[in-house]
This record gives sequence, structure tokens and C-alpha cells, in this order.
Amino acid sequence: MTFRVPIVERRDASYDIRIGRGLLGELPAWLAAGPEARYAVISDSHVGKRYGEKLVAELHRAGVRAELITFPAGEWNKSRETWSALSDRMLAARFGRDSVVLALGGGVVGDVAGFVAATYLRGIPWVQVPTTLLAMIDSSIGGKTGVDVVQGKNLLGAFYQPRLVVADLEALTTLPGPQLLAGMAEAIKHGVIADAGYCDVLEREHPAIVARDLAVLERVVVRSVEIKAEVVSADEREAGRRAVLNFGHTVGHAVEATSAYALLHGEAVAIGMALEARIAERSGIAEAGTAARVAALLERFGLPLEAPEGASVDDLLGSMGHDKKARAGQVYLALPRRVGAMHGDAQLGWTVPIPEDLLREILGAGAAAT
Ligand SMILES: NC(=O)c1ccc[n+]([C@@H]2O[C@H](COP(=O)([O-])OP(=O)(O)OC[C@H]3O[C@@H](n4cnc5c(N)ncnc54)[C@H](O)[C@@H]3O)[C@@H](O)[C@H]2O)c1
Ligand SMILES: [Zn+2]
Repeated sequence: MTFRVPIVERRDASYDIRIGRGLLGELPAWLAAGPEARYAVISDSHVGKRYGEKLVAELHRAGVRAELITFPAGEWNKSRETWSALSDRMLAARFGRDSVVLALGGGVVGDVAGFVAATYLRGIPWVQVPTTLLAMIDSSIGGKTGVDVVQGKNLLGAFYQPRLVVADLEALTTLPGPQLLAGMAEAIKHGVIADAGYCDVLEREHPAIVARDLAVLERVVVRSVEIKAEVVSADEREAGRRAVLNFGHTVGHAVEATSAYALLHGEAVAIGMALEARIAERSGIAEAGTAARVAALLERFGLPLEAPEGASVDDLLGSMGHDKKARAGQVYLALPRRVGAMHGDAQLGWTVPIPEDLLREILGAGAAAT
């Protein structure tokens, strides 16, 4: 099926997301039928080997100019160094303004390749071909691109919308199990922020999801894409409600960065959601039982709920001070009112300042104090 992401304030930046089985095989014909272009197929070492080489060979057969450019897999390579190495490779190969970046891989590839596209020759078009569940349901929609730095996650980047997103569900059959579950953390986030019924579906369909029933996974991808697209299309640059998509991410990013990326992004976000839901309940924002419901859903998918031992509260707070929502040293969180609805409105804003003592108390329960 094809799903449109309308960008309300910039109609010409709107784009389609195609979701289905076997779409990777159809891509060369679509690109051959499109405007004449030269494709820089950017991928990581795993996905490049498994899917990239074949895709480029098929693009050539279809008469499309394309070259594969890869970098080593892993979150720690979502870096300035990778951005610069990829850009240099494109310059050396003389990619011109008729070029298009095709990002083939998970969220790491999408974020860094999108940032290359945003900056190469001041910006060239890009197509996203997400191959992880997380990238299909979350990172490939909304146009956030960027890299991590030592100070924190995603601190350098750009809002830059792709021309097209193509999600081939069959890629999920080769995804390692922990990566599939990490993607489910973002699906649970979508349910918590917007649709309690979706949370029930995820819980009920757990056996089919872990067995990779593609019909069920397709329903998950479609519903998550609908929820994310609805939020981002009205607020492209996160001036307002888009902040609700960060539920679990302020604490989660701090946990992810301080674990030196030993945790997967989705695992860190699971911990972040469990802790932020507790903060929401303790500050009287969330209905009683919200934190328990969030924790039960995460546990169902085998996701962690507590920061790993050794994560110090001071390190977590220090990392949160770099969060993009922090103001004047104060941590702001997007919090649920209950499962299915977020706190806030256009007047109040969508994030609330959290007193440091409450943060210390909740984070301290799951991390060693220093
Ligand atoms: N831009 C956004 O809006 C946004 C939203 C959410 C997350 N993110 C970012 O996404 C990143 C996480 O993305 P991710 O979880 O997709 O991780 P990832 O890109 O590192 O992919 C996970 C691993 O799976 C491998 N892989 C990918 N597809 C595969 C397949 N089909 N078969 C076999 N192996 C495959 C990759 O090589 C990698 O080793 C984080 O950096 C996070 O900050 C961005
Ligand atoms: Zn995320």
C-alpha cells in the first residue's frame, strides 16, 4: 500500500511511503521510470552485503546509474567522521547535482545518509529504504537526519524530508531478533502517545510478531506510520506537538549515550519510557496504573525497564542537560496522561519541567548513585 505524508506547511515537501512485500525487487523499475539521476546507494557493512550489492546490480540491469558506498555497521558510526567519509567518497566519485542518495538500512544509515544528502552540494534529493522495523515505523518518517557526538545523540543534523520511502517487509525476515524487539519499543511508544487500542493489538499479537508473521507486521508498520505521519505532518520542525514523539527519549538517549552504545536504541528507549512513565505518575500527570501498563507491555516484548548497573545518576543528568528540549539547565519531558493520550496542548505546550530531586529519585532507583 502507499501512504502519503503531507507536510502541511510545505506541500511540495510531502512524500509517499510504500509499504509491502518484495518492494526491493520493484525499486529498480520505479527508479528507471523516474527522472534521469545517478544514485549513491549508502548502506552499512551488514545491509550492504546482504541487500545492497544485489540492488545495485539490478539497478544497473535496469539502466540506472548507481554506486554502493558503505560504512561499518553500528550506532557508534553514526558520527561526524562517517558523514565526512561518505561525503568525501561522493566528491571523489564526482557525484553532481543530478545525484540522489538512496539510504538502504536501519535508522543509523537513514540518519547519517540523510544528513549527507542534506549537506552535499547544499542538498540533493534522497530516497529512504528502511530495512529494520525501527526504521520502517519511525526513523524513516519525519525527515530528522543527523549524527551523534560525544555530548549526546543527534545533536548535529537537519530536518530534511526524503522524496520517497520504500519499506519492504521481507527485509524483516533477516533482521536479528533483538533488533526486531528494539523496533517494537517505538511501536509501543506510538500506542502510548496516541492509541490505547493499538497497545492492546500489540500485546495480543506478540506471538505472531516474534514469529515474523508478515501480515501482522504489515499492520504494525501501517498503524505506526499513520500515527507518526499524523503528528509530524502538522509540525515539521518540532515547534509544538511533535515533541510527544520524544516520550521515553530524553531519559532513553541519556541511558543510550552513557551505556557507550552497549544498549540498542530501542532498548534504551524502553528503559526511558518505563522511567518517564513513573515520573509522569509521581508528578500527578498520569493516571494511576499508567506506568505499570507501559512496563507490562515492554516486558511482554522482553525489553529492559531499568538502566544498566553502573549508569550513574550524575552522568545521566549531565547527558540530559544536552537534550534538545532542555532550557536553562532544566530537563523538560513529554509525558503521558494515560496510555493512549499525552499531556499538554497548544497553550500549555507539550513538555513539562521536571524537578531535579524527582529525576534523581526515579533514576536513582534504577541506577547506582555516585
Ligand atoms: N530520524 C528519526 O526520526 C529517528 C527515529 C528513531 C530512531 N532514530 C535513530 O535510529 C537509530 C537506530 O536505528 P536501528 O535500530 O534501525 O539500528 P541500525 O541502523 O544500527 O540497524 C540495526 C542493525 O541491524 C542490521 N540490519 C539492518 N537491517 C537488516 C536486515 N534487514 N537484515 C539483517 N540485518 C539488518 C544493521 O546492519 C545493524 O547492525 C538510532 O541512531 C536512533 O537515534 C532516528
Ligand atoms: Zn527512537
